[in-house]
Amino acid sequence: MTNPNQEPTEPKDAEAPALSMKSSILKGVLGLGIFAVITAGLIALTQQMTAKTIKEQVALARSKALYEIIPANEHNNALLNEAFLINAQALGLNKSDHAYIAKLDGRPVSLILPVIAPDGYSGPIKLIVGLDTQGNIKGVRVVEHRETPGLGDKIELQKSDWINGFNGLSLDNTPAEQWKVKKDGGQFDQLTGATITPRAIVNAILKSLQFYKTHQKALLALAPESLFSPFQSDTKSEQL
Ligand SMILES: Cc1cc2nc3c(=O)[nH]c(=O)nc-3n(C[C@H](O)[C@H](O)[C@H](O)COP(=O)(O)O)c2cc1C
Repeated sequence: MTNPNQEPTEPKDAEAPALSMKSSILKGVLGLGIFAVITAGLIALTQQMTAKTIKEQVALARSKALYEIIPANEHNNALLNEAFLINAQALGLNKSDHAYIAKLDGRPVSLILPVIAPDGYSGPIKLIVGLDTQGNIKGVRVVEHRETPGLGDKIELQKSDWINGFNGLSLDNTPAEQWKVKKDGGQFDQLTGATITPRAIVNAILKSLQFYKTHQKALLALAPESLFSPFQSDTKSEQL
């Protein structure tokens, strides 16, 4: 017989689906959490590996460019090992970067300055500008940029000869007012459909020539005293 006062109890079987739903939600949340942690880890790892590769590529491009600008027969010092750090706003730098001095029998013959054009179409453009001791351009190379393929990237020597147009120029043979693209009244070709990129580079090179003219003595005198292997700490950086 059943007791009429007895509380009706849930049948035991009804608890089972509720429990299994809870546990499947828990499993889902746990699974998602693990997935998120693994994904975040993979992204961080990829970023780290990519950053290292980019850094190595930039260093490689730079050392190749250094020897293009100052060929081996024009100096007899170990160019890559004789760098000094420089940090100058006039060169567009916001942290120390390496400058290189080429010497022939101990005498400085050329200098390679790191320069940043801050106002490229897609951001800063990193350059190296090689000068002889008289302030004549020996060569310019773009070592890092994000300009548009097919438009602004013709600043790369692999894509066009445009960057060689600066060779041999100086403030003596090309006055400051000529350092503009033709569209702005100067003497330098703009690139087809891309004026912003060359405008930024022409301006940055002009600034580097003016910088050299102002600091020539200090640069040539300072370099031998602050020689050290490249890619070390910034402790010997010079704020000019
Ligand atoms: C998708 C896209 C990418 C562009 N990339 C560049 C570039 O890399 N460098 C550049 O100078 N102009 C680039 N331009 C063109 C510039 O917007 C601008 O029209 C051009 O530089 C001419 O400038 P100007 O009108 O001052 O002469 C790009 C335009 C578009 C739509």
